[in-house]
Formats: sequence, C-alpha cells, structure tokens
Amino acid sequence: MLIVFDFMALSILIYLSYMKLHLAYNSIKFSAVLMIFFCFFSATCLAQPVVLSITNPAQFSEMTQLDQFGGPSSGTYSPTEAERQRIAWFREAKFGMFMHWGLYSAMAGYWKGEKVTGGEWAIKMHKLPIEEYRQLAKTFNPIKFNADEWVSLIKAAGMKYLVITAKHHDGFAMFRSSVSSYNIVDATPFKRDPMKELKAACDRHGIKFGLYYSHAQDWNEPDAYGNNWSFNGYKGYMDKYLEQKAYPQIQEICEQYRPDIIWYDTPGEMNMERAQKVAGISRTILPNTLVNSRIFNTNAPGLWDYKSSGDNDGFVQYHNVPWELCGTLNRSWAYKKWDTAFRPVNELLYHLIDAVSKNGNYLLNVGPTAEGEITAPYAERLRELGDWLKRNGEAVYGCNGTAFGTEFGDYAMVEGKSSFVASPVIWRCTTKPGKLYIHVFNMPANGKIVLPAVKGKIKNAFLLANKNHRVTTKQSADGVMVGLPKKAIDTLATVICLEL
Ligand code: GLC
Repeated sequence: MLIVFDFMALSILIYLSYMKLHLAYNSIKFSAVLMIFFCFFSATCLAQPVVLSITNPAQFSEMTQLDQFGGPSSGTYSPTEAERQRIAWFREAKFGMFMHWGLYSAMAGYWKGEKVTGGEWAIKMHKLPIEEYRQLAKTFNPIKFNADEWVSLIKAAGMKYLVITAKHHDGFAMFRSSVSSYNIVDATPFKRDPMKELKAACDRHGIKFGLYYSHAQDWNEPDAYGNNWSFNGYKGYMDKYLEQKAYPQIQEICEQYRPDIIWYDTPGEMNMERAQKVAGISRTILPNTLVNSRIFNTNAPGLWDYKSSGDNDGFVQYHNVPWELCGTLNRSWAYKKWDTAFRPVNELLYHLIDAVSKNGNYLLNVGPTAEGEITAPYAERLRELGDWLKRNGEAVYGCNGTAFGTEFGDYAMVEGKSSFVASPVIWRCTTKPGKLYIHVFNMPANGKIVLPAVKGKIKNAFLLANKNHRVTTKQSADGVMVGLPKKAIDTLATVICLEL
C-alpha cells in the first residue's frame, strides 16, 4: 500500500508558520490545534493520518518496537548568547566516541576465573570486596596503549569528539592526581598518565576532548554515595567526600587537561547546591567547557549545557534542547572478553541518523582492553561507519533535525487512549538551510517514497554519494513523491538530497 498523506501536514505547516514555531510538537496548544485539524479533515476528507504503510523490514523490527513509546517532543530551549556559542561545536559535531576504561577492564568480564556480569558495575553487582578489587591496580599495565592510534581510529570513524572515563564509580582515577593516590600514575606499574597523552593526541588530530567523572558515586570511599556492601552502607557524609575528593579532582582535571566536556553520571545524593558547586568549578576555570545533564536531575536553566538520554535509549525523542544519545557498540560499556554481541553497522548508523534527525548527537561506546587495545570487532565497525560518513557526512555534520516529524509516527487511539504509535523505520530526514536529506534505510519494493508536503519548490534531487545520479520527484500540495534508484546503492543507508 502506498503512503497516505492527508491535509494534516498542510495544517501543521500552516499552523507552524503562523505561530513562527518550528517543530514544537509537544506544546499543549499544538496538540489541541492538531486535534481540531485532525478531526475536521478526517471528517471532511476521509483521509487517514497514516504515515507509512510499507511493510517493516525485519532488521528494524526491534528498533520500531523500542520506538513505540516515544512520541515527538520538544521542550523549550532559550539559551543565552554565551550558552549558544559554547554549544555550537557540539551541535555541529553530531558523532562522538565514548570510552569506558579503568581497572574493571582488567576483569574483562571475569572474577577469579568465574564469568561475571556487569562490566564496570560487576564490583557492586557481585559485592566484590573492595580491598581485593584494589589489587587490580598492582598489575594494571596497558603497555599497548597508544594515544595516537586511538585518536586516529576516532577520526577514521568520522567522530568529532571523545569522552573517556577519568574516574568511574569504582573511584580509581585514570589520571595523575595529587588528591588521591588511587590513580594510574601512583598505583600501577604503568606510571604514565593516559589522559594527558590522549588530550595531546586529540589536540594534534583536531578532536574535542571530554572527560567522564563519576561525581556522586565512588565505591572506594566510605563517605560517598554507592558502596553499601563494603563500608556498612552509606553514612551520609557526602559533603565530606565531595570536598575532600570530588571537588578537588574536578578542579585537577580542569587544570590538567582543559576538557571540552565534563560528562557527569548517576547523580544520586546530589542536590542543587552540590550540583552548582560541581558545575561552578569548571565554569570558573573553563567557561566554555560543556556539562551534561546527568550532573543533577533538573530542568532548571543554566546548570547543564546538553541533555543525556538514557543509556542505549531506543525510543529517543525529538528535543529542541541540545541532547546526546549514548550507546554501546556491543552490549557492554567496559571491555568483556565474552561479550561478542556486537551490533551490526546498519543498526549503529540508524542510531546516528535517527539522533541527528531528532536534533541530537550520538556518543558510541568502545571498551578498550586492560592492555590498551581496541579490538578488531570494534575497529572494523567504526571504520565502516567512517567510510559511510565520508560519502554522506554532509547529511550529518552540522545538520538540523527533520523538517517533518511524521516519519517517527503519530498519535492514534489505542484501546480508547490517544497514544503515540511509531511508524516502521523506513527513512529519516536531516536538514540544512535550503536542503533536505532523506536517509532511506530500506528501498521500498515499489521504488517510491512519499514525503509530507514541502514548502518551496524542489529544484534539484540527487543521490548525495553520487551527485550525477538524479532522482525523480513529483511535488504537489499533498506531498512529494520521490522515485528511488532500482536497488539500494548503499547497503547501509542511501541519502537523497533535495535542494530547494
Ligand atoms: C550508567 C552506568 C554506567 C555507564 C553509563 C554510560 O549510568 O552507571 O556504568 O557509565 O551509564 O552512560
């Protein structure tokens, strides 16, 4: 069945241009007006708000399922001029590498020869004695670590920034620290400072450098939040821990590495006052350094610069506020020898494009080994993503989100309740002024795709990876029919550029 596109899109466009609001899907006013238009046109035109009716290809069924609970959403975003400038590079960058690397990498998914789950969380999940875990430092010696090689791989993947664990919940600092000797320089035979080497390599290769810092949880410290098995539970001296370890270490990482991002996580036991102190440290030393929303659970403006979605969040929504989806390349954050469930490249690429089409970034995780290696299954997939981006990067970097939104799905009555129902994932749209990029994941059998109506005349339509390959379009007030190439010319995703 072909795509049925009714007057709703037209109504949306009229309404949006009238309100001078773009993509404000979630506002109450919008929903109310949408309902009125919907009822009116449904009654008069008998058109249905079905977006796509092409059968859902098997490989995307899992994603569609995950997608089905998240409807388009926006939230207001009114940054100050300083905030807007500070975040500009991040909005341009779109794709970054996440790295989880620490003493837990030496466990590699095993404890005393037994397979354990949890990766960097294994210590807590299996209540491992903290004194025994600390012993891992004595043999932690990543002699194969080469900062230039890692950063070259980041570049080859088409990624523009790195966020690496400076300190995870285990409390071990992967950087030189005079605040705590529980750090890689003082406590391991390696004695080198990999954060310093990575920062230098990132600078050499033009990659932005971000540090993950677990500010609230620190399982090595009895006063901090998180370790309820080794020290007879949380004692509530959070401020003592913050003042003696977290605040001074955050200051250290700011001064030593001048990171472009500080990525906080799991803000249990934080409150506004503590969060403001944490943020204040980098704001004072490095006013342009970005802070993610996991610093503290609040929407109060000014504390954080961008929103972090849930881990591997399959149903991310459109947000006006800058945001980032973080996800794993296999099923673990930290290296686990036995985790061979690496995601296929088309799934990873889908997450990148989907995030960009919803105005976000994608931070894709790699777990290096304790020896300092990024293993082949990671590297191969990263290079393949990078190759696709070489052909189609124009449709990702610096792009804005979709011009439509209906491709995500729509509200419909389900069991008497208005619910968001996801459309099968067939295409996504990213935009730049005067350009629409249509990313087609699966070539429909009938060779056509129908987009909602587009304001302005389409002057050119071609395959982004091969500009000489023209694509036919038929434009009307109801929508745009795009004739697709006979077969997918890119097995991952084919991008059609529509110039207006
Ligand atoms: C979590 C976990 C963690 C991981 C992170 C990545 O919240 O605590 O281990 O670092 O998600 O987003």
